[in-house]
Amino acid sequence: MAVEAAGRPAVAIDRDRLAALLERELDAFRESHPRSLELSERSRSSLLFGVPMSWMARWAGGFPVFVQEANGARVVDVDGHEYVDLCLGDTGAMAGHAPEPVVQAVTAQAARGSTAMLPTEDAAWVGEELARRFGLPFWQFALSATDANRFALRLAREVTGRGKVLVFDWCYHGSVDETLAGMAAGVVGPREGNVGPPVHPALTTKVVQFNDLDALEQALRAEDVACVLAEPALTNIGIVLPDDGFHEALRELTRKTGTLLAIDETHTLSAGPGGCTRAWELEPDIVTVGKAIGGGMPAAAYGVSAELAERIAARTEADYEDVGGIGGTLAGNALSLAAVRATLEHVLTDDAFAGTIPLAERFAGDVSETIESAALPWHVTTLGCRAEYRFRADPPRTGAEAAAAIDADLDRYMHVHALNRGVLLTPFHNMALMSPATTPAHVEAHSAVFAQAVEDLLG
Ligand SMILES: Cc1ncc(COP(=O)(O)O)c(C=O)c1O
Repeated sequence: MAVEAAGRPAVAIDRDRLAALLERELDAFRESHPRSLELSERSRSSLLFGVPMSWMARWAGGFPVFVQEANGARVVDVDGHEYVDLCLGDTGAMAGHAPEPVVQAVTAQAARGSTAMLPTEDAAWVGEELARRFGLPFWQFALSATDANRFALRLAREVTGRGKVLVFDWCYHGSVDETLAGMAAGVVGPREGNVGPPVHPALTTKVVQFNDLDALEQALRAEDVACVLAEPALTNIGIVLPDDGFHEALRELTRKTGTLLAIDETHTLSAGPGGCTRAWELEPDIVTVGKAIGGGMPAAAYGVSAELAERIAARTEADYEDVGGIGGTLAGNALSLAAVRATLEHVLTDDAFAGTIPLAERFAGDVSETIESAALPWHVTTLGCRAEYRFRADPPRTGAEAAAAIDADLDRYMHVHALNRGVLLTPFHNMALMSPATTPAHVEAHSAVFAQAVEDLLG
């Protein structure tokens, strides 16, 4: 769903007012989070960037809140503030925090042994369940979606004998070297800020704009691309939905040129129990999925079609079993798989989405109402139980269009304003995700905070 701003003249943001409000909110944040500030300052002496993982430094307040505990859709910080969590670990906690079935399964499995480099029955159950959900019969596990994507690309190169991959501009598939590419004036190069690229990405990667079928056709024509790796809708530069017919054409072009198609469902699992692949009846050769499936534990998976499985097996000289490049000592470990099973069997069930998707629609409806009544040139889009608003009037069709709407100050203001009023939004996005533990009251809390942020902004 995409809702445009009202047809009235759009209201412009007063930048001086925005700067003053941002300062006010940052001061308030600092003032009201003394314990987080203290821990943050202490961490600077032992942790690079003062945080355990560098992107935790991106939280809008200037330092992150340190978590005391997280349960369901709520987080409590070390200063005693309670938050409605709409970030949910940027999808890692889409099942809600500490879901009881996962806690029980993990506790029981930890007591029985976490990793033995041997399978458990849960592995077979999870393989069968992923096959049922996504329609691809054969599965393997990894510890992160990044790794699932890396292994998928290696397999694609191995069976096709082709060197290149194709991704869409402004995609994000984790820290996968081949995908950290971007495009400026039609020329492929390292994505802005790419840290120490091993080789120039143009050597490994072709990039086209999402929804640009002409460019896609041209890029695949040379038949040197092993695999198109795509999210079914872009989700890491706001939500960019596919045009009608885009996926049919993408599948047709990839088939025609002997190119494999890998669909990354890590974020778009929000669309339903089998992600967009099932909701939109896609027919990829490979599906990758991570984050949410572990219910908070590190886990990811990739599945392949029967035909691709045969082609993989036929490459008898490829070392799939030792040091050939597909690995991870703890991948497929018993603890992760116990967590995945509990998550899929009891938490992110088919029924769960019947509750979470309407909540995202409710979120978008409320946000859209505020946008329209304030005549702001913004819009909000949903993708299943995920919703995101963006600072441009129309839904973008490409990643480049979406990127052009980034407004760092406005973004920061909306986030820190929400933080100060007990709502967590994902740092990289204006994204809200609904878990089975999220309630209408949580959505309403955000709606009120969002309306107030807009009111303060416009005066
Ligand atoms: C679509 C998509 N794929 C893969 C990943 C990588 O996930 P991870 O960082 O857990 O490896 C991300 C991370 O945001 C993602 O958005």
